Amino acid sequence: GAPVEANVSTIAPGTMRTVAWRGKPVWILRRTPEQIKDLSKNDPMLADPHSDRPGYTPAFAKNEYRSRKPELLVCVGICTHLGCSPTPHFDMGAQPGLPASWEGGFLCPCHGSTYDLAGRVFKNMPAPDNLEVPPYVFSADGTEVIIG
Ligand code: FES
Repeated sequence: GAPVEANVSTIAPGTMRTVAWRGKPVWILRRTPEQIKDLSKNDPMLADPHSDRPGYTPAFAKNEYRSRKPELLVCVGICTHLGCSPTPHFDMGAQPGLPASWEGGFLCPCHGSTYDLAGRVFKNMPAPDNLEVPPYVFSADGTEVIIG
């Protein structure tokens, strides 16, 4: 399929946009400084905090943000369990049934898998893997992401 371009300059901090790529939803989230800072707190509770498992994280995203730029998460919004689309939940604080240090993330409505704001799955969830990071680059001026 052809690459998909999306303007990221108009995505406000703490909000996300969904674009279609090869028939799949791809989320583009602009994380706030607080959300970026909180990512590392999740590491002990994650199934694969460093995205070592093959197949879901390209080499360029094997870092603490799982992205090319710390503020911008780009990932496929399809649960790695059975393919439902998780729902974003931002800045919820502690919630019953969610990890104790839940700082916001994505919750799958089908069987309750939770992911953090880097698309990393929490331990002991039905979903085995982190959300897929697609191949992408930014335009020279940084305003566009080109996916695919
Ligand atoms: Fe997401 Fe089962 S499809 S938890």
